[in-house]
Amino acid sequence: MCFPFLTQRKKLLQTFQNDAHVVSAVVGTQWGDEGKGKVVDLLSHSFDIVARYQGGPNAGHTVKYDGKTFVLHHIPTGILRPGISCVLGNGMVINIESLIHEIDQLSKQSIDVFSRLLISENAHIIMPYHIKIDCASESSAHADKEAIGTTGRGIGPAYADKARRTGVRIGDLLHPSLLEKKVKSNVEYANKILRAVYDADGCDYAEVMAKLEKTAKYIDKNIVNARQYVCNAIGNGKKVLLEGAQGTHLDIDFGTYPFVTSSNTTIGGACTGLGVGPKDIGTVIGIMKAYTTRVGNGPFPTELEGPKGEKMRKIGDEFGATTGRPRRCGWWDGVAGKISVQLNNIDYFAITKLDVLDTFESIRICTGYKLGNRVIDYIPSNPEEACAMEPVYEEVEGWNTDITGVKEYEELPEQARNYLEIIEKITGVPVMLVSVGPRRKETIWKNEL
Ligand code: GDP
Ligand code: IMO
Ligand code: MG
Repeated sequence: MCFPFLTQRKKLLQTFQNDAHVVSAVVGTQWGDEGKGKVVDLLSHSFDIVARYQGGPNAGHTVKYDGKTFVLHHIPTGILRPGISCVLGNGMVINIESLIHEIDQLSKQSIDVFSRLLISENAHIIMPYHIKIDCASESSAHADKEAIGTTGRGIGPAYADKARRTGVRIGDLLHPSLLEKKVKSNVEYANKILRAVYDADGCDYAEVMAKLEKTAKYIDKNIVNARQYVCNAIGNGKKVLLEGAQGTHLDIDFGTYPFVTSSNTTIGGACTGLGVGPKDIGTVIGIMKAYTTRVGNGPFPTELEGPKGEKMRKIGDEFGATTGRPRRCGWWDGVAGKISVQLNNIDYFAITKLDVLDTFESIRICTGYKLGNRVIDYIPSNPEEACAMEPVYEEVEGWNTDITGVKEYEELPEQARNYLEIIEKITGVPVMLVSVGPRRKETIWKNEL
């Protein structure tokens, strides 16, 4: 079979061979939990630096190898490979206490973090009042506002303070008098909101400060000008892998607003959230689950609410890595996929969790949405319309074979290859690797970097 992208693929492979891709990025193409952690772990050995550029501990990136399981929330997955430096970029929001807990957990598993971790002085700190406001806002019954189903980690309120230009930043930890002044006025402001809007308890300034001062001691030597560090590294020919969190359709601008996170999860977020220029990013790898999942509320056109959805959840072990919540499951969505390709300039797909579809007699592929009498190929910005859309499906035969042991692409059952080729055809993007299990070795490489 011949697709127009084959010429492009040839060109890209040549680019890799010429070693010109100094910076590569991994982005989630759906609603998060696509398997970014597994893929970053597979790729990271070819890089010197792995950097996160947005989000915070709302992320949960799971990696499994040697019988061990690691779940990373702030720290880039590259930390699992010795010798790689890991950067928390300015676009992130950081909960220092939970970051230290994460570092401790890794240390217990013999992973040295402190000597390899660089934290941007411009990243914002998630404060206790952000978490309180997030949780109070979600649980308060506003007739006009449905709960978003956030992770309750204070993400939205921390980014709101950043946009309000009052946020406390990591670099402030190094300037005690500035820190005190900022924390004091922020606690006062947040307490007014907590009490007046949510009828909730406020935070105690002295307690907040004491905790900050205590935890700051652990990380103060890791605080740097991360933009300069990364740009100099790129200038010196170091290879950098950018690790996205969440997914394209959770993007604050392009996602299913308001049911989104509060950062730019799409590739533009990598430029603003780290300080790399768009032309530095040589390759963008989109992580695409072979079906779709979503945690939290909001539009999900291909959701399967009956036994098939249950079956996907059970086989795919679809429970949140951060909150343990059951993930909503449904068929693969080609419309959402094409939008992701446009937004992120995706060069390659890593298709994950193909094995989860092993026992489905037939598989559906969403090729459009029906809204009233019209068939559309975009997600309407009005959430009511987005929720009312019905998917248009194409149905293909399943493979009914256990593929977890397959090592070569050609060894995959014909129906599985057919399914992957339909994904390539709909999106116009070639598949680089296919993941058929959570472990490193359960991976089929099609076009190795
Ligand atoms: P991330 O947030 O995008 O890194 O994804 P998560 O780690 O939250 O969720 C993906 C889950 O699927 C993790 O538990 C992985 O261990 C697991 N996983 C990744 N790839 C595969 C795969 O190909 N097959 C199966 N069965 N599980 C996978
Ligand atoms: P990773 O990086 C899946 C979802 C939440 C909620 C919405 C807003 O593991 O893919 P927030 O706490 O960010 O204000 O919640 O975004 N969400 C995720 N869903 N994977 C994630 O991260 C997510 N991070 C946030 O469930 O619907
Ligand atoms: Mg996750």
